[in-house]
Amino acid sequence: MLSFDTNGEFSQNYKFLIGSILPRPIAVVSTLNKDGTNNLAPFSFFTAVSAKPMIIAFSPLIRSSTGEQKDTPLNILREKEFVVNIVSESIAEKVNMCSAELPYGEDEFKHSGLTPIPSEVVKASRIKESLIHFECKLRDRLNYGDEPGCGQIITGEVVKVHVEDSIYENGRIITSKLKPVARGAGNDWFKATDVFEMERLMKAQIQK
Ligand SMILES: Cc1cc2nc3c(=O)[nH]c(=O)nc-3n(C[C@H](O)[C@H](O)[C@H](O)COP(=O)(O)O)c2cc1C
Repeated sequence: MLSFDTNGEFSQNYKFLIGSILPRPIAVVSTLNKDGTNNLAPFSFFTAVSAKPMIIAFSPLIRSSTGEQKDTPLNILREKEFVVNIVSESIAEKVNMCSAELPYGEDEFKHSGLTPIPSEVVKASRIKESLIHFECKLRDRLNYGDEPGCGQIITGEVVKVHVEDSIYENGRIITSKLKPVARGAGNDWFKATDVFEMERLMKAQIQK
């Protein structure tokens, strides 16, 4: 096996992470800019953390091109709230357009063609075309440095969820109807079209 230390270039570590931790779900995070306009950006360093309280987390890295904090964390630290929108195949290309480095204050909804709709609790907008929305209040922030490639954990306490009725049956979200996409290494994306089932084994079955 090849082995590497992690104290070299951040880009080497980054490539290792995105090539080994995959497929990664994608949070499209909507926040409010200082002037009240909308900001939208995708993040695949994203996961669920707690069911009750319902908490989700994602990680914006320091921008490698400028060494500056991205707009999303700046907005969240000021406004203390945000919305996470889930990505289906139908909006994947538009979501990709949201990752463009637009000047601060330029609305990624307009740039991508996605439609903003009001949230019920927070001021940040939701994406109409996204089938699941999490309205979040900032819960914690853990920072790992200020150099390019340094990350941070932002957790949000989910105060309201929304799901498109057509993908929700008997208290469950139907994966084949959600058609989620995920991120891989480089420019790779995944579709969830090769799902397989395995029964969870109980202790008694394992000991047979
Ligand atoms: C699918 C996808 C996933 C991404 N995941 C992350 C991520 O987890 N962390 C990060 O810092 N940037 C990530 N990016 C890049 C950001 O979206 C990009 O830097 C964006 O310009 C940030 O926007 P903002 O400045 O409005 O926050 C991702 C881009 C794409 C297309």
